Amino acid sequence: MKGSRKLFVKSFGCQMNVYDSQRMADTLAPAGYVETATADDADLVILNTCHIREKAAEKIYSELGRVRRLKEAAAADGRRLLIAVAGCVAQAEGEEIIRRAPVVDVVVGSQNYHRLPDLVACAERGGKVVDTDFPVDDKFDHLAAPSRAATRARGVSAFVTVQEGCDKFCTFCVVPYTRGSESSRPVGKVLAEVERLADAGVREVTLIGQNVNAYHGEGPDRRPWSLARLLGRLATVPGIERLRYTTSHPRDMDDDLIAAHREVPRLMPQLHLPVQSGSDHVLAAMNRRHTRADYLDVVRRLRQARPDIALTSDFIVGFPGETESDFAATLDLVGVIGYSGAFSFKYSARPGTPGADMSEQVDEATKADRLRRLQEAIDRCQATFNRRCLGRTFPVLFERPGRHAGQLVGRSPYLQPVQVEAPAALIGEIAAVTVTEVASNSLFGALADAPAQKPALVGAGA
Ligand code: SAH
Ligand code: SF4
Ligand code: F3S
Repeated sequence: MKGSRKLFVKSFGCQMNVYDSQRMADTLAPAGYVETATADDADLVILNTCHIREKAAEKIYSELGRVRRLKEAAAADGRRLLIAVAGCVAQAEGEEIIRRAPVVDVVVGSQNYHRLPDLVACAERGGKVVDTDFPVDDKFDHLAAPSRAATRARGVSAFVTVQEGCDKFCTFCVVPYTRGSESSRPVGKVLAEVERLADAGVREVTLIGQNVNAYHGEGPDRRPWSLARLLGRLATVPGIERLRYTTSHPRDMDDDLIAAHREVPRLMPQLHLPVQSGSDHVLAAMNRRHTRADYLDVVRRLRQARPDIALTSDFIVGFPGETESDFAATLDLVGVIGYSGAFSFKYSARPGTPGADMSEQVDEATKADRLRRLQEAIDRCQATFNRRCLGRTFPVLFERPGRHAGQLVGRSPYLQPVQVEAPAALIGEIAAVTVTEVASNSLFGALADAPAQKPALVGAGA
């Protein structure tokens, strides 16, 4: 093994993109690459890209301008800086990236991170490499596990990919093309990873997948296990106090998964359930394969199972053909559900998706206006949800020091950040906190003497 070299990985995408960045670092560690906090002194920079909207995809080219200057500065110092582009833009654009930005040495698609040591070795010898095949073998079988030290450094809450890819083909979305078709990791592999995380001090695990609730990994009995069954098993791992999963599709919210919200106390009462639009006409054009009524029914069943469940969502405004009355239906749905928060985006036409070729594209000014109005409605909902938490006492998992000395930041069961005066020894612990003050994006609280109360109803009825 050669002497140690420095690696800087930057994530531009979703939680799975962040998870992949960590796996890339773990996989390059045996080749002598040690992570560094900035690109300035790195020998290898990996940009892990996102293709979901045009703005995200274009960001990479401005970033490449910056690293080109670093590469030139390194060369003037007699050092060689290698530049790799990974992730969903790499998968979608392949060698086009090197044509547009000759500074790039390696392009590696989202399914080939296990091959990075070979690709980087080839680039070290002076070659340019592009690898965007969808391999037949499972990348998870070859990706290195993180060291205990690396896991510890990453904190008390961790993501674990359990499912990847998507077969739903919503007409706006690139994910089925950049991540390939749906596949699930076997139960045994997930369990081993979660046990290792627990052993290194992780207390909260969020299972991730583009369609996580379509999970159907092979169990120890060689049969496919549902996500509900997997969650039930993971809830018995000593040390793991909290479980979450994201992102779910409304069509795959099966009865057993809804029941898990009643039966598995470690499963936190918060669910990200993207609806995209409140109008049946738009939902059909998006190929979401559910109606507004279907969505409301899922929410009703979830609240029956777990009355205090907090819901969040994603919305797209200005999808082709969206009229003012379609948009009004979306605004109305936000109020009816009473979300605890939501992300909203202007529709971005993506190359190769059916939506990009649809007539009746909505103009930019209308999209901007609808986005502003939707965000106002979401902010109002979030403020209402947060206000209802005032005076309540609930368990908070402390994650890290706060901005001010003596303060820690933790998470409520509903995923809100909570700032509390508390000793640093509480990091990694769960303690009862009474909410004393509410701001738009976070809560403030004080350690409570009494244990946390049983959750009261905080969601609005759907
Ligand atoms: N796997 C997730 C989606 C990931 S993309 C899921 O199925 O929910 C995250 C969000 O980005 C989507 O929910 C959608 O709201 C938004 N999005 C996806 N494609 C988009 C596009 N072309 N324009 C604008 N927003 C988009
Ligand atoms: Fe994209 Fe739709 Fe699949 Fe989600 S369900 S990843 S929005 S195609
Ligand atoms: Fe972006 Fe790929 Fe995630 S397109 S949202 S990084 S799956």
